[in-house]
Amino acid sequence: MKLANSIKELHHIIKAVRREGDSIGFVPTMGALHNGHLALVKRSKLENNICVCSIFVNPTQFNNPEDLKKYPRQMEQDIRLLESVNCDIVFIPETEEMYPNGEPEILFHFGELEKVMEGADRPGHFQGVGTIVKKLFDIVEPHRAYFGNKDYQQLLIIKSLTQQYKLSPKIIGCDIVRENDGLAMSSRNQRLSSIQRSEAPHIYSVLKAAKQQQLDVESLKLWVAQKINTNSLMELSYFEISDAETLKSIIKWDKNQRAMGFIVVNMGEIRLIDNIELNI
Ligand code: PAJ
Repeated sequence: MKLANSIKELHHIIKAVRREGDSIGFVPTMGALHNGHLALVKRSKLENNICVCSIFVNPTQFNNPEDLKKYPRQMEQDIRLLESVNCDIVFIPETEEMYPNGEPEILFHFGELEKVMEGADRPGHFQGVGTIVKKLFDIVEPHRAYFGNKDYQQLLIIKSLTQQYKLSPKIIGCDIVRENDGLAMSSRNQRLSSIQRSEAPHIYSVLKAAKQQQLDVESLKLWVAQKINTNSLMELSYFEISDAETLKSIIKWDKNQRAMGFIVVNMGEIRLIDNIELNI
């Protein structure tokens, strides 16, 4: 596995290892890697000749400076993990090279997609994600790029970005990887206290149980809120039932419309995000 700390190094390495016709699969990450990230790398390895993974804690997508400061950083372990799944190239750029002029220049228009859920709760977050992903796509020039369904709204934002700017990679959404107890894997999980960690699987249990309820949309939202809030360590930030393509709120079930449930739960200062397909 080769390491690149600058754009120049990355281009040099790609040129050296790439044979004619080789496809490049790309997995952008912010590090603190776990099996969710590694599943994206494995999928990329299956579908492409060369896998590039980037590790960059992108400052412009954090609207809370404390969250940025506390974001886990564990580069040596990340490199070992990427090696274990035969990633070919790791790109670890410096902030100065990604943002030579300080703040981002482009204002993206994602319409409704960035106004709801994470967009409403974290102002500017998706502008930051759009900025860095566009920069990374321009640098890496991948054929395919892999994102997790855990951050489903992010996945739709990136699909929209790719369409709007006619960017070349095919965007591939991958299943949520969970711990054995159902908790969606996340770099943030390691910041949970042991008691919070032992309660956290409640979120996915409630989502799975929600899928089995025969309730109208509004009643199901109330049902989920009540189930989450019975746990004294949890505070529901939101539970939305939305269209899987547009993220518009669903008011009434329609079997022709793919509905998903999106949840964010706060445990202390940790935000846990998850989602589930509802009407399949
Ligand atoms: P990060 O949170 O490191 O996640 C990198 C990728 O891993 C994202 O596509 C995310 O959806 C995916 N991922 C995380 N946990 C997962 C899980 N349990 N199962 C499946 N996939 C999972 O998302 C970001 O970084 C950043 O916003 C980024 C796109 C890199 C831009 O800075």
